[in-house]
Amino acid sequence: MTASLEILNDAPRLSVAVTPTPLQPMDGLRAVLGPKTPRLLIKRDDMTGLALGGNKARKLDYLLAGARAQGADTLLTCGAAQSNHALQTAAAGRRFGFDVKCILDGPAPAPDSLPSGNILLHSLLRTPIIWTMRLTEETRNEQARRRTMSAEADRLRDEGRIPYIIPTGGSTPIGALGYVQAVREARAQLAERGEGNITAIFFASGSGGTQAGMAVGARMTEWNTQLVGVEVDPMPLDADGVNPFRRAVCRLTNETAALLDMPANFTHDDIVLCPDYAGPTYGVATQEGDEAIRLLAQTEGIFLDPVYSGKAFAALLGWVRAGRFRADETVLFWHTGGAAGLFSTH
Ligand SMILES: Cc1ncc(COP(=O)(O)O)c(C=O)c1O
Repeated sequence: MTASLEILNDAPRLSVAVTPTPLQPMDGLRAVLGPKTPRLLIKRDDMTGLALGGNKARKLDYLLAGARAQGADTLLTCGAAQSNHALQTAAAGRRFGFDVKCILDGPAPAPDSLPSGNILLHSLLRTPIIWTMRLTEETRNEQARRRTMSAEADRLRDEGRIPYIIPTGGSTPIGALGYVQAVREARAQLAERGEGNITAIFFASGSGGTQAGMAVGARMTEWNTQLVGVEVDPMPLDADGVNPFRRAVCRLTNETAALLDMPANFTHDDIVLCPDYAGPTYGVATQEGDEAIRLLAQTEGIFLDPVYSGKAFAALLGWVRAGRFRADETVLFWHTGGAAGLFSTH
């Protein structure tokens, strides 16, 4: 066993996610797309067994173990109003005995409004939520979010609590270990099915932890597949002409590699991002995404969401329809969950 695999195996971990998640062929969809379509598989991380499922449960396996190791009693996290990460953290807190506090973007819903999507689920969980009131770039800025969480953590400590801060999307090197492990899981499933060669894997990339973990997992298992992170939040290039999200994912990938004592030498070229399906802004549905949601539902009985997985699936369909894969290749869609987004009215 390699030293890095030993570090991964020894990393403290709780069983938040129910794994392995299913890996299934999408033959019904393939038949509809026509004879030139590559073989299509789907990895069902919408079925991770916590709340309505989703990718965050895998990150929480490692993050909650970290919280427990530090003696924390309160999980403090943040996100968009309908954040799937905040919802899964709140549900995991209930199940594993932590108090939770979520700092969410936007004004508090009016007291007489009917909650929808994840806010409805938070009301069932009785999640204490702090609404930031502001809905500007400032609140979606990671530094600003960290400052707000740090101030709230100080307040909790003054009350005698021991908070554990989980940044946006659980995208820290510890959280990303969940997707290093997930790649090992998928590879074992593929090997069992005799399907070692996967040309490309499509998934939604939001705060980057899923992509960073997959990149490290692929390197660790010497897997030569193209990891296509589909952006869901359009980003203007920075002064050097680089997408700041690519920069952030690359940094997180290297930090995750370093945690496992692997060479931290990933470059921007190692991070493949597809920006073409993000739509006008984060959280706004697109026509291609809606079509992708309907097509997968009608061919496979599987639900995507308009904010993340629908856009990622639209990218897969776009690349397939553009003839970018041969019929004898295999392409995998990694479903990252988000179902509550289908029921969100705000
Ligand atoms: C349903 C869903 N898919 C994908 C993502 C993106 O994952 P990550 O934040 O690790 O990039 C998220 C969260 O941001 C999500 O909620």
